[in-house]
Amino acid sequence: MTQDELKTLVGLAALRYVVPGEVVGVGTGSTVNKFIDALAAMKNQIAGAVSSSQASTARLQALGIPVFDAAAVPELSVYIDGADEIDHQGYMIKGGGAALTREKIIAAQSRQFVCIVDASKLVQTLGAFALPVEVIPMAVARLLRQFAALGGQARLRLKDGVPLLTDNGQQMLDVSGLQISDPLAFESTVSQWPGVVTVGVFAYQKANVCLLGTTSGVKTMTF
Ligand code: 5RP
Repeated sequence: MTQDELKTLVGLAALRYVVPGEVVGVGTGSTVNKFIDALAAMKNQIAGAVSSSQASTARLQALGIPVFDAAAVPELSVYIDGADEIDHQGYMIKGGGAALTREKIIAAQSRQFVCIVDASKLVQTLGAFALPVEVIPMAVARLLRQFAALGGQARLRLKDGVPLLTDNGQQMLDVSGLQISDPLAFESTVSQWPGVVTVGVFAYQKANVCLLGTTSGVKTMTF
């Protein structure tokens, strides 16, 4: 099975976590796109969605699924999203699609986080994937030095040769060379650095369930 087929498999498997009659939280990325496409088949059974990015909002609306502002729906029963890495405790690295801030906000207002990934994303220790961090532009130079002091190499994310701007109008760093052995402590520390909007370690908003796409089917991990 290709990686794309595994993403389709977990996107479909996530449908069983969607609660009929309710608003579902929807993440961002190529795996979530498979989920959104599958969700179209049950669009008449749900009230709609809250979305973590302009890209997911556009895809949901194109399929006729109403999208609500997160602030208008105080609590969600479930949030479904992908990840760049997930470990055996449900801690994740997210933000490869630069949507991490809205993803963390929606995860925080959801009772259950269902992470959908293909098997290549499961790791022992977070950090092989360069850690995404959304930052305020005036803090970039100092934050590069702060990550260097932790042993990481931070780079400003570019798009078409210029700094990428997130949906929130901020910039992104990608930090390689980290071994994140204590995700809770790491998230706590880096979140306090002035100029950090959101660090892509999801430890406080970890997954409750991971649907892992493998060549022998979907494996369900609970945390
Ligand atoms: C976006 C994310 C995505 O969930 C993450 O990058 C995984 O994406 P994909 O499903 O395309 O591999 O955090 O900000």
